[in-house]
Amino acid sequence: MGSTKEISLTLDGQAVEVPAVWTLMQALEHFKIKTPVICFHDATTPEGICRQCVVEVEGRRTLLPACVTPVGDGMVVHSASERVVRARRTILEMLNASIDLSQAPELQEQMATYNADPERFPQAERRGAEVLDDNPFYVRDYEKCILCWRCVQACGDDLQFTYALSLGGRGHDTHIATFFDAPMPETTCVFCGNCVAVCPTGALKGKTEFFLEQGMDYDQIRLEKRETRRKQTAKGGADHD
Ligand code: SF4
Ligand code: FES
Repeated sequence: MGSTKEISLTLDGQAVEVPAVWTLMQALEHFKIKTPVICFHDATTPEGICRQCVVEVEGRRTLLPACVTPVGDGMVVHSASERVVRARRTILEMLNASIDLSQAPELQEQMATYNADPERFPQAERRGAEVLDDNPFYVRDYEKCILCWRCVQACGDDLQFTYALSLGGRGHDTHIATFFDAPMPETTCVFCGNCVAVCPTGALKGKTEFFLEQGMDYDQIRLEKRETRRKQTAKGGADHD
């Protein structure tokens, strides 16, 4: 591992040495110990939002998110203890109770791996939102949004530097929004598609894929997109009258 300073720690009973600048997730990955993630994405800066990657470190009171926790000399890490498994399972059950995860294959896979009970919180209030179809390129279905923040990061400092997306509302009403909830064509969005690419749940979806799922064929989709563009051009003209 070159001349970088190394530290020693124990990962699931295995004594290892890793560069001191690594995170716990990098160390776990290096030694092929799989860590589930939700908010983490290789293209965006880890923010430690979802807590799905937590591990237990001896001597630490709380579980620690592996994606943002630096390795430490002498750490004894347990990545699959009962406490860790229970925490990960509960996060999945809470998300599933309030958000439509039907198009989130990675989360479905985690639900199966952690034996998550889809009926654990039957009284939970489910997130409700209209599908936002306001541009020719993609739709936004925030009923499927888990607030992982990846799209905001991709739109901002991590990839596009466009800043069309941010957080709106508070508490249960917190949602991904544009400034003043403006339609996408009236924001700084350049329709690069980076937000769609990093979204793990299908909340952001290319329009062709969305319309195909609705049973439309390519000719119908072409006409529908043309109609959207025509309406926007007409609206833009009217706004400038
Ligand atoms: S829209 Fe997708 S990428 Fe953005 S916060 Fe919601 S789930 Fe994450
Ligand atoms: S994946 Fe580490 S906190 Fe979300």
